[in-house]
Amino acid sequence: MNIHILLPVVVSFFVSLVTCTTNSSIIQTNLTDFQYKGVSIGGWLVLEPYITPSLFNATLLSNETANDIPTDEYHFCEKLGPDEAKKRLVEHWESMYNETDFQEIKQTGLNLVRIPIGYWAFETMDGDPYVSGAQDYLDKAIEWARSSDLKVMIDLHGAPNTQNGFDNSGLRNLGYPGWQNKTEYIDHTYKVLQQMFAKYGTGDYATDDTIIGIEILNEPFNPDLTKLKDFYIGSYNDARNIQIVNNTIFFQEAFQPIGYWADFLQYGNVTITTNATTNRTITKRANFSNVVIDHHHYEVFTPNQLANNVSTRLQDISNYASSIGKAGHKSIVGEFSAAMTDCAPWLNGVGLGSRYEGTAPYTNDPIGNCTAVNQSIDKWSKQMKKDYRRFMEMQLYQYGANSRGWIFWCWKTEGGATEWDFRALVKNGIVPQPLDNYKYVKNGVDTSMSSKVILSKIFLLLPIFMVIL
Ligand SMILES: *[C@@H]1O[C@H](CO)[C@@H](O)[C@H](O)[C@H]1NC(C)=O
Ligand SMILES: *[C@@H]1O[C@H](CO)[C@@H](O)[C@H](O)[C@H]1NC(C)=O
Ligand SMILES: *[C@@H]1O[C@H](CO)[C@@H](O)[C@H](O)[C@H]1NC(C)=O
Ligand SMILES: *[C@@H]1O[C@H](CO)[C@@H](O)[C@H](O)[C@H]1NC(C)=O
Ligand SMILES: *[C@@H]1O[C@H](CO)[C@@H](O)[C@H](O)[C@H]1NC(C)=O
Ligand SMILES: *[C@@H]1O[C@H](CO)[C@@H](O)[C@H](O)[C@H]1NC(C)=O
Ligand SMILES: *[C@@H]1O[C@H](CO)[C@@H](O)[C@H](O)[C@H]1NC(C)=O
Ligand SMILES: *[C@@H]1O[C@H](CO)[C@@H](O)[C@H](O)[C@H]1NC(C)=O
Ligand SMILES: *[C@@H]1O[C@H](CO)[C@@H](O)[C@H](O)[C@H]1NC(C)=O
Ligand SMILES: *[C@@H]1O[C@H](CO)[C@@H](O)[C@H](O)[C@H]1NC(C)=O
Ligand SMILES: *[C@@H]1O[C@H](CO)[C@@H](O)[C@H](O)[C@H]1NC(C)=O
Ligand SMILES: *[C@@H]1O[C@H](CO)[C@@H](O)[C@H](O)[C@H]1NC(C)=O
Repeated sequence: MNIHILLPVVVSFFVSLVTCTTNSSIIQTNLTDFQYKGVSIGGWLVLEPYITPSLFNATLLSNETANDIPTDEYHFCEKLGPDEAKKRLVEHWESMYNETDFQEIKQTGLNLVRIPIGYWAFETMDGDPYVSGAQDYLDKAIEWARSSDLKVMIDLHGAPNTQNGFDNSGLRNLGYPGWQNKTEYIDHTYKVLQQMFAKYGTGDYATDDTIIGIEILNEPFNPDLTKLKDFYIGSYNDARNIQIVNNTIFFQEAFQPIGYWADFLQYGNVTITTNATTNRTITKRANFSNVVIDHHHYEVFTPNQLANNVSTRLQDISNYASSIGKAGHKSIVGEFSAAMTDCAPWLNGVGLGSRYEGTAPYTNDPIGNCTAVNQSIDKWSKQMKKDYRRFMEMQLYQYGANSRGWIFWCWKTEGGATEWDFRALVKNGIVPQPLDNYKYVKNGVDTSMSSKVILSKIFLLLPIFMVIL
């Protein structure tokens, strides 16, 4: 037998032998105690209609109506066809973000960008209408981040046949996600993650810690949790086997209660049934280290939450954060926003109204009027600005104090979604600058209503009274 044929066999045998032992040449990222202050680069490499509505509206022909607006990136590409979709997406990728944005992000006091990307940026599946090309922009963004001294979390935001049914996965099918409907979708996701680990966890990318780590999968909704754990274990082991860098692997909480993931992280096991007839089971294992659970928190997706006043919300945030603090594993709040309404046009999806106004398809009684919040932010009343600032301050403080930190969703929008637009909120004094320059929340307590603040205001006004007198 020819030695050239034997060689790969020998090498792979050797490699598989040493994977079981600690690899002394593993590169540490040195970011174990990193405190996250991040923003997501939403709506860029995975389209979201409410972040860039104009892209979606621009697909309308003169003989069409609003019903013909595509609901997500999948249908955007399908409607335009590969050439036109590619042309428009490249224009969008080129224009929505550049190095200047990352410099601004850094100047705002943030230290990380979370970059959502879809599987189709790495490898499409047969019959997909998606166009590829976003991967090059992810790579550009990593260079911008490195130049601005920002860390990058790469976030697999869209899996085949949608892991959550939301438009932000690339394919909207609200309430009926389909990622686990066929093993080929899950297998394709493994394959794409393996490509990501090989590219971003070895070679030049592994020699510095710009890339803090990879999020396996964003927001799986209502999954079979045993299958999801199997997938988390499999992907984690792939990450450690493929990567030479010991970076952070992020597991999204999948809408489970705080504390749900503690045992899983500790024991790293899942038992799956491999033959339903005989009940044959096998247990799969991983030795988890450097794993962070990514919690997401919004207060606008049920009528009950929407009805809460600001004080109730502040209390909710404190309670929520303190339960994260007690969960016994590393966590971040990897998505939250300033939203106290679901009024941003198309937030719930193209063509869908709001629960806040009780407009179709929502059937709840109206809770309020979207006119005020949907105005341009410079027209917001003083009281609104104050309330939004209190809400933001409480979140920044509590998430920072009770977890490894936070990542706001998202850095910027086309303009119609102020509650979700960190840049606009900073410019208009709703996000503190510097970020810890709290005006109302002191040591985690909202002081905006207390006599102390009123008193201090009187003292501030005293010299003016004296001048008047
Ligand atoms: C150990 O790390 C080196 C590079 O740092 C890599 O070439 C080698 O494949 C790794 N071995 C294993 C078993 O992971
Ligand atoms: C997009 O189209 C919808 C429906 O016609 C319209 O209500 C909305 O104002 C448009 N948005 C933008 C940003 O053009
Ligand atoms: C609109 O016109 C285009 C041709 O310009 C045609 O292909 C399409 O079917 C028409 N759509 C509708 C909804 O009538
Ligand atoms: C980024 O784009 C903005 C306009 O959108 C422009 O003002 C700025 O100069 C660009 N920065 C770079 C580095 O090209
Ligand atoms: C997944 O399967 C379920 C059950 O058959 C179905 O209701 C759902 O629409 C499927 N989802 C997708 C995106 O195919
Ligand atoms: C982590 O720190 C060590 C010691 O300072 C250094 O050698 C190594 O290159 C750093 N790792 C990364 C990924 O920057
Ligand atoms: C995981 O391991 C723990 C500790 O050995 C055990 O209590 C638990 O039942 C195991 N869980 C599964 C799903 O195998
Ligand atoms: C499950 O076990 C039964 C009984 O041993 C066997 O006939 C069947 O082929 C098995 N099914 C699978 C999918 O392995
Ligand atoms: C397999 O488990 C189910 C549910 O736990 C049980 O009803 C069934 O009898 C078991 N089948 C066998 C062959 O043990
Ligand atoms: C976990 O670590 C133990 C002890 O080092 C080792 O025997 C086992 O193979 C590891 N398991 C996995 C799945 O890496
Ligand atoms: C990876 O880093 C974690 C701490 O962040 C450490 O516990 C673990 O031992 C490291 N793994 C390797 C293979 O160096
Ligand atoms: C909301 O308020 C505006 C003016 O503040 C008014 O014109 C509009 O009719 C109100 N809309 C609803 C749904 O009550």
